[in-house]
Amino acid sequence: MNNFQYYTPTKVVFGKNTEEQTGALIKEQKGGKVLVHYGSGSVKRSGLLDRIYASLDEAGISYVSLGGAVPNPRLSLVYEGINLCQKEGVDFILAAGGGSAIDSAKAIALGTKYEGDVWDLYLKKAAPMDAVPLGVILTIAATGSEMSDSTVITNEEGWLKRGLHSSLVRPRFAVMNPELTYTLPEYQTMSGCTDILMHTLERYFSHEMDTDLVDSMAEGLLKSVMRAARVLLKEPKDYNARAEVLWAGSLSHNGLTGCGRSGDWACHQIEHELGGMFDVAHGAGLAAVWGSWARYVYKDDVARFAKFAVNVMGVPYDYSDPEKTVLEGIERLEDFFRSIHMPVSIRELGVELTDAQIKELAYKCTYMDQRTVGGIRKLGKEDLAKIYEMAR
Ligand code: NZQ
Ligand code: ZN
Repeated sequence: MNNFQYYTPTKVVFGKNTEEQTGALIKEQKGGKVLVHYGSGSVKRSGLLDRIYASLDEAGISYVSLGGAVPNPRLSLVYEGINLCQKEGVDFILAAGGGSAIDSAKAIALGTKYEGDVWDLYLKKAAPMDAVPLGVILTIAATGSEMSDSTVITNEEGWLKRGLHSSLVRPRFAVMNPELTYTLPEYQTMSGCTDILMHTLERYFSHEMDTDLVDSMAEGLLKSVMRAARVLLKEPKDYNARAEVLWAGSLSHNGLTGCGRSGDWACHQIEHELGGMFDVAHGAGLAAVWGSWARYVYKDDVARFAKFAVNVMGVPYDYSDPEKTVLEGIERLEDFFRSIHMPVSIRELGVELTDAQIKELAYKCTYMDQRTVGGIRKLGKEDLAKIYEMAR
């Protein structure tokens, strides 16, 4: 097992009606002037925003608000949020919504305390040193941003989608009421479930073999999420299935299933370029490329892929031909994606890639030929172009 650090300071407040505690939770954090940041309106339509305001009023906390965070959240709104926070003297940020509202809130939190252009932090030209504290009311089980140290923002200039990791943006609290996710359209629910699976798989596909405990946790999490997704396909208001995926989303990306191993993360990098250029839903984009990535790299670690096939996808181990076991495991996960109406190719995402776009995606994914991605196999721009081509 590799050395590791595990740091999850987020207080999780889970269950029915927990959003009513928002004001008290912010008071606990000594927030006096709050920015409430949200997306394109689902929190208004559901009445959640009014309930949040009522809770803040009851706690005597003053606030300003800013909506408009879109999927693949944009840098321009982040700038707007930073100006608002600086002008209003905001000392706590509350994100209400999904990964996009949360990531946008994290960027605003960093930018408010940074003298230069916040985009410098995403380009790694400077390291974040301070941030406004933030909390989250989560409305979709997906990214795990409610407990993670990362934020992913899209710069409209050049349509670059870039991520940033910093402990400074781990939310102080995350309110998670499974009932708030009832209103999600099926596509978003399933895209979220896929993202949760992928956060665990990106960690699971590592060369280290001596991580038995986290392997078992990861395998259990993957099977639970697949079971719950099947239930939600038929019954979107099944409380327990909603609760299972909501909690799995946090545990999938708070570092737990990655303890002691290095992780892969190529699929996320491959998808982020698709998200930046074509604005696709993140989880769906991951489903569209995963099988192609897996077929491209599996020979570098047949044992690990076979373990996944047997322990997660229930494939009988073929002693005479382990690669057959691996390929059957990959096929079964793709079948699962199809069964929850997720795409397994980029065309099924609604994007017809040209040869020139494949080259551009691969180039951007290597940060203009400055890095490789992935751990199972380190992928350069030629490899990435082949994977985009296979997934096309
Ligand atoms: O904007 P609103 O109106 O709220 O609508 C959203 C949006 O259209 C809607 N929605 C959310 N909750 C709802 C709801 N609709 C009805 N009822 C509800 N309860 O769903 C749509 C998707 O929301 P979004 O926040 O974009 O989804 P998600 O949570 O999947 O976030 C995706 C973003 O997070 C990034 C992704 O790349 C993408 O930009 N990620 C962030 C990570 C992190 N910070 O740790 C890790 C991930 O790997 C990921 O990269
Ligand atoms: Zn993800």
